[in-house]
Amino acid sequence: MSSPHFLQRHQKLAQVLKQQELDALALNPGPSLPYLTGMHFHMSERPVVVIFSADQDPIIVLPQLEALKIQNLPYKIQAFPYDENPSNWVKAFRGAIEAGGFEKGRVGVEPRAFRVLELDFLKEAAPEAQFVSGEAAVAELRMRKDASEVSNMREAAQIAQSALQATLPMIKPGVTEKEIATELIMQLLRHGSHSKVPFSPIVSGGPNSANPHAAPSDRKLENGDLLVIDWGANVKGYFSDITRTFAIGEVDPELKLIAEIVMKANATGHATAKPGIPAGQVDDATRAVIDEAGYGEFFTHRTGHGLGLEGHEEPYIRSDNQILLEVGMSFTIEPGIYLPGRGGVRIEDDVVVTADGLESFTDLPRELIQLEA
Ligand code: CO
Ligand code: CO
Repeated sequence: MSSPHFLQRHQKLAQVLKQQELDALALNPGPSLPYLTGMHFHMSERPVVVIFSADQDPIIVLPQLEALKIQNLPYKIQAFPYDENPSNWVKAFRGAIEAGGFEKGRVGVEPRAFRVLELDFLKEAAPEAQFVSGEAAVAELRMRKDASEVSNMREAAQIAQSALQATLPMIKPGVTEKEIATELIMQLLRHGSHSKVPFSPIVSGGPNSANPHAAPSDRKLENGDLLVIDWGANVKGYFSDITRTFAIGEVDPELKLIAEIVMKANATGHATAKPGIPAGQVDDATRAVIDEAGYGEFFTHRTGHGLGLEGHEEPYIRSDNQILLEVGMSFTIEPGIYLPGRGGVRIEDDVVVTADGLESFTDLPRELIQLEA
């Protein structure tokens, strides 16, 4: 692959490990592994672990049959391959632990990604080592996107937007949520998304739109429905995550009103985010708009989440998050109002912090667009 600067990333990781007093970071297949190594492995019944430390080459434990992947890497790696007999696998892990000198180390793992399968082998190979959350280390490493990452995210947003535009003509009363979701997924792939889309699109009409995480159902759209669509594309592992809300024919005036309030809250989020302010301040700003309009109790989630190689990562846009925004941090701004039994509105954009504020990757119209019967 064209080399995202792995050696630079390894150097940065070395600094982060020292700051966080970790002797090593152990990764299994998941988004951080290709970020640091350029290698892709499927999670399978065969364990794969790469161990990084501050002052030596990365160490990998992997099945012999995958050994081709470590040839011609643009950096050095110490390999401990194992054969097809599981009773031999722990030997490979012991070799890795001894080579790294991690027998009594403090080793970070990703709490949301690291499996018991790999952890058990590591613990058996290093019973005196301490395995702790490496989440903060990984966030510190991945939170600020470089130019090539930003360009992948920009493209993922554009692909998703084009896919939605190609889907809109089929949306009318009588069409089911599942039919729309199916078409949207096809259009995402057709417009260039990796086939592994970041998440199954949410397509929720009428009362279902009041559930922020509804799964598409067989319900047919009706005139007077709000329709929430939340979808994204994947470009080289980088995600987009967008939401727009539509009106099917003429909707109730209060539903139009909440759409206007959410649009204003979304705009306030864009206007607030800039380098140097706490992430939580963006949440406070969008929430204030909805609170002042009297709908605070119906805005039931945080304003957004970091976005990149994962659909949810730091910086979380949540009132108590004191992380200071910096150039390169990317996240969503997605305020919503959900009126139970009636309908909901969410407007979600993907942005990156720039020196003078924000760049929005997403620019589809945010107002409530009425799709005609
Ligand atoms: Co979303
Ligand atoms: Co989101």
